[in-house]
Amino acid sequence: MDLEQIKKRAFAEIYETPDRQSLEKIRIRYLGRRAGEVTAILRSLINLPFTERRRVGSEANQLKRELEKALAEQLNKLRTKEPSPLDLTAPGKKISAGHLHPLTQVEKEIREIFLGLNFSVVEGPEIETEHYNFDALNIPVNHPARDAWNTFWLKDGRLLRTHTSPAQIKYMEHHKPPFQIIVPGRVFRYEATDNSHEINFYQIEGLMVGQDISLANFKFIITEFFRRLFQKEIPLRLRPSYFPFVEPGLEVDIGQNGEWLEVMGAGMVHPKVFDAVRYNPQEWQGFAFGLGLERLTMIKYKIPDIRLFYNGDLRFLNQF
Ligand code: FA5
Repeated sequence: MDLEQIKKRAFAEIYETPDRQSLEKIRIRYLGRRAGEVTAILRSLINLPFTERRRVGSEANQLKRELEKALAEQLNKLRTKEPSPLDLTAPGKKISAGHLHPLTQVEKEIREIFLGLNFSVVEGPEIETEHYNFDALNIPVNHPARDAWNTFWLKDGRLLRTHTSPAQIKYMEHHKPPFQIIVPGRVFRYEATDNSHEINFYQIEGLMVGQDISLANFKFIITEFFRRLFQKEIPLRLRPSYFPFVEPGLEVDIGQNGEWLEVMGAGMVHPKVFDAVRYNPQEWQGFAFGLGLERLTMIKYKIPDIRLFYNGDLRFLNQF
């Protein structure tokens, strides 16, 4: 067994290895426990005569140490040659940020448009009393019109507001005309859901009171509002309707693809409502409207089902 030859061959191989995997193969070839060449020599010492055994034994052990050292050195060299795990040119990981819900986006747009038309934005509470939600709006107990607003009642006799109209009363109780406001907010109705009805939805109430406000002012304001929201001319239709807190009452439809879609109730503020807040109906006039935010958003983005807004499906939400 020529240890010198093994050493030469092993060293040449070690210093020429290009990568760590082949270096490991070399280590196994020479020092592997089962079949390494040097290991085999050390194992066969027992068969040698005593004097030979000592000489070959110490040389083979010496070779083993040298090989171990050479392998470690080469391993180090190969390691420093490998690219750093920190790649400064790698593209960054995309951080997925959330965004505003489509209803919030449209509500913000609506606020901006009305601010641009010189309206102020005010808010009201979601829990209301019967007085503000119904009585002060000329809907006394046992009035059949109450059936139009199926109500979630609280145990203490209060209720979840069924529309944003109570905010009209609250505002007028503490402010003198002339003024013009909108009141965006969440409302609740105890009714069956379908593709255009939710039990929880948003309205935008509007109220403009002054000395000579008429339906002509209303028509101008909403025509301008729709023009700005849809950024084009939109066919509008005003239809007579009934709400106890307005006279005359009307509903507004907007035309799309040959269809008329109802988006708001409106009318001239009823004298009884002015009485309830101690305005003189001889002196003041005003118009009011209540707009469905979901319906409007559905028309703007051609959304077929109102329930899509509330089921949290990212495939829907990520389209906005
Ligand atoms: C009202 O709630 C009146 N307060 C509106 C009003 C205000 C009239 C001021 C006159 C003066 P109505 O129930 O029609 O009216 O609702 C108004 C709008 O809310 C509807 O045109 C519709 O767009 C929307 N809406 C009504 N019910 C639902 C529902 N269940 N789900 C989603 N949107 C609804």
